[in-house]
Amino acid sequence: TDELSLRPAMLQQYIGQKKVKKNLDIFIQAAKMRNEPLDHVLLYGPPGLGKTTLAAIIANEMGVQFRSTSGPAIERAGDLAAILSSLEPGDVLFIDEVHRLPRMVEEVLYPAMEDFFLDIVIGTGPSARSVRIDLPPFTLVGATTKAGMLSAPLRDRFGVVERLEFYEEDELCQIVERTAQIFETSINEEAALNVARRSRGTPRIANRLLKRVRDISQVRGEEEITLETTKMSLDMLQVDDVGLDHVDHKLLKAMIEGFGGGPVGLDTIAATIGEDSQTIEDVYEPYLLQKGFIQRTPRGRIVTEKAYQHFGLEAGER
Ligand code: ADE
Repeated sequence: TDELSLRPAMLQQYIGQKKVKKNLDIFIQAAKMRNEPLDHVLLYGPPGLGKTTLAAIIANEMGVQFRSTSGPAIERAGDLAAILSSLEPGDVLFIDEVHRLPRMVEEVLYPAMEDFFLDIVIGTGPSARSVRIDLPPFTLVGATTKAGMLSAPLRDRFGVVERLEFYEEDELCQIVERTAQIFETSINEEAALNVARRSRGTPRIANRLLKRVRDISQVRGEEEITLETTKMSLDMLQVDDVGLDHVDHKLLKAMIEGFGGGPVGLDTIAATIGEDSQTIEDVYEPYLLQKGFIQRTPRGRIVTEKAYQHFGLEAGER
C-alpha cells in the first residue's frame, strides 16, 4: 500500500476541511452544470494537510485528467508551453509550490490563465518574433505553504482561494481508522485517538505514525494495535503527548535556554539548532504558533507561558 492509495478519490470520502469541501462541492457542481472548466483554484496552508489530494479530487469530480508538476520544475517558458499545449479541454494542471515559479514563467502564465493563449518569443535580436499559441481551456490548481509569497498579479488570477486548516482530533482519528482499514489492520479506539492527538493536526503525520506503530504492534504479535503499544512506539519515535517532535523540542529549548525565551530572530534560531530557516518557518512554526507555544512579535519569536509549562518549568526559572 503506497502513499497514493491512501488518498481519498472523491470529496465525499475526504475527511475534515469542512468549509473548503463545501465550497468546492458547489463550485464543481456549478461548473459541471454549465459544461465549463472549473475556475483556477489556489490552495494554501501548512504541508501535509491535503492540498495535492484535493487537487486530484477536483480532477476526479470534474471527470478530467490530473496533471501534476511544481513551481521549481518549470524552469523556462518553453517548459510551461510544452505542458499547457499537451492538455485536453477541461484538464486540471496542479502546480505545487506555485510561489516558486520563475518570474519569466509567471508572466507567460497570466494570459494562459486569463484567456487560454500563450505568447512565446522565438529567436533573439532583430529576428525575434512572438507567436501566439491557443490553448485548450484548463483549470490551474496552485498550492503553496504561504499565500503571502505569491505575487499579487498571480494571486489575483485565481477565482477560488481556499486556506487549509490543521485538523481536529476527531477528524484525524477518523483518518487513522480509515487508513488502518486500508492496511487491513485493526486498531482500538483509544490507540487511534492517541495517534491522532500526537499528529500535530496533520494527516500525513498521522498516517506516518500509524505505519510505525503498526510495525511495532506486528512484531509484538498483537492482533489489534493497543494503546500501550501506541504510547511505547510514539515515545520511541520521540513524539510527545501533544505531538511535538524532537525538532520542536530542540527549537523551544534553544529559545528558552539560549535566549531567555526570546525575542529571537528566525535565522538565529535556525543557526543555533542547525535546521534550515525556511523549513522552520514552513513546517515547524505554523503548528507551534497555532497551539500557542510561540508567538511572533516585531522583534522576533518569543516562547509563551504554555511552552514553559509544557516542559515543567516555572515562570521564575527564566
Ligand atoms: N488521508 C489523508 N488525508 C485524508 C483526508 N483528509 N480524508 C481522508 N483520508 C485521508
